[in-house]
Amino acid sequence: MQKILDLISEEMKKAFEAAGYNADLGKVTLSNRPDLCEYQCNGAMAGAKQYHKAPIMIANEVAEKLQNSEVFAEVSAVAPGFLNLKVKEQFVKEYLQAMRDDVKFGLQMPEKTKKIMVDYGGPNVAKPLHVGHLRSAIIGESIKRICRYAGHEVIGDIHLGDWGLQMGLIITELQKRQPDLVYFDENFAGEYPKEAPFTISELEEIYPTASAKSKEDAQYKAEAMEATYKLQSGVRGYRALWDHIISVSVSDLKKNYENLNVDFDLWKGESDVHDIIPGMVEAMKKGGYAYESDGALVVDVKEETDTKEVPPCMILKSDGASLYNTTDLATIMDRMENYNPDKLIYLTDKRQELYFEQVFRCARKTGLVKPETELVHIGFGTMNGKDGKPFKTRDGGVMRLEMLLKEINEEMYRKIMENKSMSEDEAKETAKVVALSAVKYGDLSNQASKDYIFDIDRFTSFEGDTGPYILYTIVRIKSILNKYKEQGGDAKQTVLQDAVNASEKSLMLEISKFNAMLETAYEEIAPHRICAYIYDLANAFNRFYHETKILTEEDKEKQAGWIALLALTRDILETCIDLLGFSAPERM
Ligand code: ARG
Repeated sequence: MQKILDLISEEMKKAFEAAGYNADLGKVTLSNRPDLCEYQCNGAMAGAKQYHKAPIMIANEVAEKLQNSEVFAEVSAVAPGFLNLKVKEQFVKEYLQAMRDDVKFGLQMPEKTKKIMVDYGGPNVAKPLHVGHLRSAIIGESIKRICRYAGHEVIGDIHLGDWGLQMGLIITELQKRQPDLVYFDENFAGEYPKEAPFTISELEEIYPTASAKSKEDAQYKAEAMEATYKLQSGVRGYRALWDHIISVSVSDLKKNYENLNVDFDLWKGESDVHDIIPGMVEAMKKGGYAYESDGALVVDVKEETDTKEVPPCMILKSDGASLYNTTDLATIMDRMENYNPDKLIYLTDKRQELYFEQVFRCARKTGLVKPETELVHIGFGTMNGKDGKPFKTRDGGVMRLEMLLKEINEEMYRKIMENKSMSEDEAKETAKVVALSAVKYGDLSNQASKDYIFDIDRFTSFEGDTGPYILYTIVRIKSILNKYKEQGGDAKQTVLQDAVNASEKSLMLEISKFNAMLETAYEEIAPHRICAYIYDLANAFNRFYHETKILTEEDKEKQAGWIALLALTRDILETCIDLLGFSAPERM
């Protein structure tokens, strides 16, 4: 479906043409002065020079041509030459009717479907998830959903950190604690136990302990590096232990992500590309791209137009070990070979911006991707506490994701219990749903690259630009629709009517922006566009709701029109929050 602004512009362009002017002047935009008009056109101002005529004269002539327009209810030429516009109620209604009949509310599907891979989440195995990983998961999940809704084929990959030194550290610490484990017996040739020799909480304690020891004790660190090397070169017992670490860790991760309503199509990790690294490195050498520098293997990636220094991309360390870069490059190669995506989107902290610039340039230069493959890094800002510093626990530690969610769930539960009489169980369930909206909306409503302040009080508020406010609005609509049903009505049988008052028309105009908004959210890869839209939409709905007695309306046709409008508002709001990665309860 065409965007409403395009339809309106078309009508205006015809009028410019009919009045003898260049049609391109008829571009219509949203009004800068909503108190005066709904839309405006500044084409007469732009045309004045070209036609050596006072803009107001042009505007008057164009307005004249729109006297019997099917689109405009009001066209006024105002000094010095603006065209202030109001559209017909019927025009808006028909547009909304078409949206209602369309599967995606009028969103145009792409001519060519792209295959897009989104690399997000990026947790490190055996290290607890912390709030740093929260943003990647929340933003990435929303981007994945937006691209999919926009009609593309999208694959989300978690890209686990499962192959680095942390694995060697864990193995080393385990060996110190339980040297007799069969995994460390070089002569053991039998089958290893199915059961892991540790639980997730032990694992989560082992890693920080080992990491701290390695920082103080060079010998210990050397052992961990040796263990990492042995693991990566395929020593059987180490591989078996690694399998245990992965499976214990991954089942815990799955639970965590499920609580966040985040799910991945692929659970691949750095380890998956281990075997293809030697071939890739060889090819980079053969192609003349990779050369030795201070013992390490590097590829130059600086370009003439650089204004800042872009250091070479390191492919192998001087000891021949692979790095974060190496696995990322090999992963690109693997993705191209096995999925052949048109576009790769990465979500990490913006501190990795230069890193991805290097990796992308290296991938292009060495031909890992096609010239037309799009490589996009979305670097997000830091989640800060109210003190403006990176978010911490009360005692200053790194806030674990589980703790953070627990805290916000409890706050939400308290609020819900004080608000209404709901059973404790229902309140608990509802609290979870609403808390998730608070966390996700709080994050997504900011432009991703910006830092933001994680403010539990503000995020959990039922008023203002918050997730709970949006949910509250949806719940309000649902409750009216339920009551309408109880009175014997059937929302599905209702038809939209022309707006009869200003707040109703504003609501309808707000709704009509859906496809344009979503197109922008997709093109800019910007979930915050959706948040801004639903906040305006919720506000427009609530203004209409406060002015209109819907359920007691005697004129049944009018009432049915409102019910149809409510159902459409609900459907659009629910579609939008699903794209943000949360849902609404039945009541709250
Ligand atoms: N595991 C990394 C970290 O915790 C994030 C991985 C991001 N994705 C990537 N392809 N490098 O910082």
